[in-house]
Amino acid sequence: ERGVVIGLLGLGTVGSGVVQIVKNHQQELQHKVGCQVSVGKILVRDKSKHRDLDIDEDQLTVEVEDVVHNPDIDVVIEVMGGVNQAREYIIQALQNKKHVVTANKDLMALYGAELLSVAAENGCDLFYEASVAGGIPVLRGMAEGLASDRITQMMGIVNGTTNYILTKMEQDGRDYEDVLREAQELGFAESDPTADVEGLDAARKIAILANLGFSMNVELEDVLVRGITTITTEDMEYCKQLGYSLKLIGLASRTEGRVELTVQPMLLPHSHPLASVQDEYNAVYVYGEAVGETMFYGPGAGSLPTATAVVSDLVTVVKNLRLGVNGQMTARPLYDKQLKTDKE
Ligand code: NAP
Ligand code: HSE
Repeated sequence: ERGVVIGLLGLGTVGSGVVQIVKNHQQELQHKVGCQVSVGKILVRDKSKHRDLDIDEDQLTVEVEDVVHNPDIDVVIEVMGGVNQAREYIIQALQNKKHVVTANKDLMALYGAELLSVAAENGCDLFYEASVAGGIPVLRGMAEGLASDRITQMMGIVNGTTNYILTKMEQDGRDYEDVLREAQELGFAESDPTADVEGLDAARKIAILANLGFSMNVELEDVLVRGITTITTEDMEYCKQLGYSLKLIGLASRTEGRVELTVQPMLLPHSHPLASVQDEYNAVYVYGEAVGETMFYGPGAGSLPTATAVVSDLVTVVKNLRLGVNGQMTARPLYDKQLKTDKE
């Protein structure tokens, strides 16, 4: 049996993690899905770059057609980032009946509804667990584990870079710029970290969480955003002395006829569960009317944690393939955007 072949769009921090997990966890993967999973062609920008990975040179390509139009590829994994090209490539892949897994929150926050409907029209799966909170299975947790409930609030730390910066500023009195550089070197930050530090990355995740959790059609511009760029080590010292931790908190809450979506720095008493979330870790508190309070916690960024979420989505795609039930996710929201946000 040929097994399932994946094509990668991107081989950076997350893509490299995907290649490693598919190789190192082959036994677990085969056991879960009942066939071999292998990596085929990989789209990169620069084929000559040194990559410390167990791949053949001829797997690398700079031609997207080698992945999205390749008859040997069953599932396309988009981990290249950016919006317009990624959107175009994913649409081509779906139209060629390839299932897609993406880690791209920029794209899902702006074009999630469109892409989910293209996937449904083509009988394909489109999963995006890694787009929110890295390795934490929060989307799956809400879509499956809490599927029977009505979720009314989600609140949490959903950006690893800013949490890393704030933690190191608070604990070690280090400079903002210095810690940001370190977060970039560790692969937590976006290639342009502006979106991280200005709160936009967290806002994208809040929009994705709200759409999935509330089954709505909110838009990125509905989220009120404030980042952490003006916070100094002196501010952190004052917060500490007063018994608070400063955290960048995303909130999505829904009450009768109103949805509130915000991302902003908040002071939390040291006793608050989110105050103890450190470094690149994320945590998302989810409140459902029936279940009550739940909390999802884990690494929110980084190569292997994020790749775990990507490859777990791949496992679902392959299980669906073997059962012949791909593309059956509901693309349409249950509630229309009759919401009023704080911005209106
Ligand atoms: P990255 O390290 O910058 O890697 C991007 C990869 O895509 C590189 O291999 C690059 O090729 C390739 N690429 C970019 N633009 C391309 C283009 N136009 N044509 C061909 N190849 C292109 O990015 P990353 O950190 O892995 O992030 C990838 C995605 O995952 C992003 O959407 C990001 O938001 C998301 N994400 C990242 C994390 C994280 O912790 N890093 C966590 C969750 C989600 P070269 O190697 O040749 O430069
Ligand atoms: N730059 C993002 C973060 C990556 O720091 O959280 C994970 O989405």
